[in-house]
Amino acid sequence: MRRAVCPGSFDPITNGHLDIIARASRLYDEVYVAVMINQSKKGLFEIEERIDLIRTVTAEYGNVRVEAFHGLLVDFCKQRDIPAIVKGLRAVSDFDYELQMAQMNNGLSGVETLFVPTNPTYSFLSSSLVKEVAAWGGDVSHLVPAEVLTALTERLGED
Ligand code: PNS
Repeated sequence: MRRAVCPGSFDPITNGHLDIIARASRLYDEVYVAVMINQSKKGLFEIEERIDLIRTVTAEYGNVRVEAFHGLLVDFCKQRDIPAIVKGLRAVSDFDYELQMAQMNNGLSGVETLFVPTNPTYSFLSSSLVKEVAAWGGDVSHLVPAEVLTALTERLGED
């Protein structure tokens, strides 16, 4: 069984994330999406809401499992016998930090990191920008799955 993990905050999942998860799901038998719990940073969506959205939009792939995690990503990998982390690289600006994390994670436990070049359609895309644009009434319907758009519209309308 070849396993990989796609880790992140996913607050919320975007079409950019989904593209990477879909591509990983074609390369591996089982892909874990690991949603990081960050106690010190309250997101727009609760962890369980993020997980529900990711489960909904990845259901069609059939080999994607979604779980929350806190602590070190390498421990998540060790506990589930996952030898590879798959990350999307949008631009050179992503590379510095991603390289540091990849080298640290490899040094900690031997886990490998594989970088997938982001689809250029999504090279400017991030969850933070989606939230900012949506909060000011901008159209993000081409940047997130329909279920996420609905959840975003509802959440931002609550204020
Ligand atoms: O979507 P994000 O917020 O850019 O994802 C960052 C994430 C979750 C991949 C990264 O912060 C991470 O792996 N955190 C887990 C804690 C950890 O293992 N830290 C050491 C990394 S070298």
